[in-house]
Amino acid sequence: SDAPPTVNSPSTLAALKEATHDLLDRQLPIALPTETVYGLAANALHADSVSRIFSTKGRPADNPLIVHISSLPMLRSLLPTSFTMPPSYPKLIDAFWPGPLTLLFPKSSAIPPICTANQPTVAIRMPSHPVARALISLSNTPLAAPSANSSGKPSPTNAAHVLADLKGRIPLILDGGACEVGVESTVVDGLSAPGVVKVLRPGGVTVEELQRVLGEKTKVLVHKRDYEDSDIESAPTTPGMKYRHYSPTVPVVLLLTSPPPESCKTESMHDILDELHASMSLHDEFKVGLLALSDSPITKACIATHYEVQRFSLGNRSNPAEAAHRLFDGLLTLDREGVDVILVEGVDEVKEGLAVMNRVRKAAGEVRYVSV
Ligand code: TXA
Ligand code: MG
Repeated sequence: SDAPPTVNSPSTLAALKEATHDLLDRQLPIALPTETVYGLAANALHADSVSRIFSTKGRPADNPLIVHISSLPMLRSLLPTSFTMPPSYPKLIDAFWPGPLTLLFPKSSAIPPICTANQPTVAIRMPSHPVARALISLSNTPLAAPSANSSGKPSPTNAAHVLADLKGRIPLILDGGACEVGVESTVVDGLSAPGVVKVLRPGGVTVEELQRVLGEKTKVLVHKRDYEDSDIESAPTTPGMKYRHYSPTVPVVLLLTSPPPESCKTESMHDILDELHASMSLHDEFKVGLLALSDSPITKACIATHYEVQRFSLGNRSNPAEAAHRLFDGLLTLDREGVDVILVEGVDEVKEGLAVMNRVRKAAGEVRYVSV
């Protein structure tokens, strides 16, 4: 359901105790709701527990995990005693914790190296979801948690998504309803230089919100727009090969209506679908999944073709938070409904739209420019 869970109900408390038993006594990862996406959580201080996250997800060992905390004293306990925060951090913590913001800190010996993939830094966030925070505080243990999907798949935003993906591989899923934000946290590095904050991954806290809280004197740099860096999320496994990301089982195509760069042509929706159909050598009828904004000309063009179209709305153009909330659900739902391809309409890259387009570009095997 969409209703917020009541953490002091006897059944919720019993579930939290069972989760604590799985995490600390059995040392097994469990799935838990956060406000962003569902997480696959394990004791961040215990190397074997953390290694089971990597094996359960099939996650490459060089992709570091986020550590989740429930209080500022818990944060302190994870940091080197000599560390002083850069001036931006208290402002960010004050404004956005608990919530969808992850900050980089120097790693201390409290955290096993497997958790940070041998990086000298550790990514930490304080989630706002009451179930996540209650579990961390009840178990009095920081929890390492990536998204609760097998590596390369879209992130789960409800308990059914997790069950469909990880059934039989984990002992417990805490069901806290649908995630409010729907995309992962914003990952920020404020350690690189004074007065500079780097956004390593756009997410639930927008760049506009970061800039507003930090003030105009702080430079907020967005990865690949303002700077290039070693991109940990898309680090090559073997030279020349990037990790697949956010991909359903069927191909995803990003549809843009903006004028194409010189090397690309604009096509009609008919031609695009005919080509995709022809490239697939299907026995049955070609079924198109469409993830588009409501009242979009793309939807009209798509249903005007003779193809069968299964639709999932990304909400209104003026509400990028809604697109963020619906994106992964849309990809996973259309995939489960048995479409042969998923077309995703590009959204404006402002506010939450930046995180949405970051995920869509990674999920999409190709970009098509459609004339509507
Ligand atoms: O919202 C979220 O952040 C969700 C929920 C469960 O909290 N978690 C999540 O974790 O998205 P995951 O593992 O799917 O993504 C972690 C991101 C990756 O892009 C990873 O490269 C980056 O954080 N990251 C983690 N530690 C890092 C570090 N030390 N330096 C740079 N990037 C780091
Ligand atoms: Mg993930």
